[in-house]
Amino acid sequence: MKRKIIPGQIPTKDLHQYIIGAVAPRPIAFVSTLDENGVQNLAPYSFFNAFSSNPPIVVFSSNRRVSDNTTKDTLHNVRVSKECVVNVVPYSIVRQMSLASVEFPSDVSEFDKVGLTPEPSETVSAPRVLESPINMECKVKDIIELGEHGGAGHLIICEVTMIAVSESVINGDRLDPHKLDLMGRMGRNYYVRASGDAVMEIYQSVTEIPLGFDGLPQTIRESKILTGNEIAALASLTKIPELSETSLTADDVKDISESEKHEMASRLITEGKIKDALYLLTN
Ligand SMILES: Cc1cc2nc3c(=O)[nH]c(=O)nc-3n(C[C@H](O)[C@H](O)[C@H](O)COP(=O)(O)O)c2cc1C
Repeated sequence: MKRKIIPGQIPTKDLHQYIIGAVAPRPIAFVSTLDENGVQNLAPYSFFNAFSSNPPIVVFSSNRRVSDNTTKDTLHNVRVSKECVVNVVPYSIVRQMSLASVEFPSDVSEFDKVGLTPEPSETVSAPRVLESPINMECKVKDIIELGEHGGAGHLIICEVTMIAVSESVINGDRLDPHKLDLMGRMGRNYYVRASGDAVMEIYQSVTEIPLGFDGLPQTIRESKILTGNEIAALASLTKIPELSETSLTADDVKDISESEKHEMASRLITEGKIKDALYLLTN
């Protein structure tokens, strides 16, 4: 049974909660800007993502307030200066980020209010956040207004001119997600911390064509024991393995009932022994 949510038939503030609860977790752009008087502004925006690598484009949306249809300082500043810095938000500064979302007056700098340090950027005038491990300096290419009423977004399309990355979050020449410890925004006041068990690696070759669900025997596809995720792990192999490609012996698969095979296969998949599991199930 699914509840139907029809835009226009419920208040915008409630629709907003369904949208931000469903489109989650979202990355957080902690956006620093400068106004025409040189006041440094800092605010979090989670209607945010990367959309292109060449040219390097990130986009965030500054919305009209649902309560009174007013617009925000960040939007004003990017309209005036055509520049901003998108700083990432690790766990270590999440409370300061949250504090920066308060609607302080326009002539007040959130850097002072939340105790973060502005450091000079190299390609734009807006400052970077020193305590953030990755700062994307951006030129604003375009601002697209999505509507005129409370809740309407303004897409702020930014071309990244330089990325400053702290050595502390790099392994070799790659970002290390464990060291980054980034925060994501969910619905209401919920956040997710990308650390520990929350960070997992799912390898999937996209060039080799896998068996797919329909390439697996029916007994596997209709298993009452294996989950959809477990069957997908088997379906991601490119062929049914030979015994020699597994760590099993012929004795391991002798005289085992079908349901015992499925139980064993489930354990093997958890251990990452996908080929062993598929061999067991097909012999
Ligand atoms: C984690 C988080 C994410 C947010 N995302 C957005 C967003 O995507 N768009 C938006 O308009 N406001 C968003 N807000 C609210 C703004 O941060 C808030 O209105 C802030 O006062 C705007 O500051 P400014 O007027 O200095 O730009 C978010 C708040 C938090 C805490």
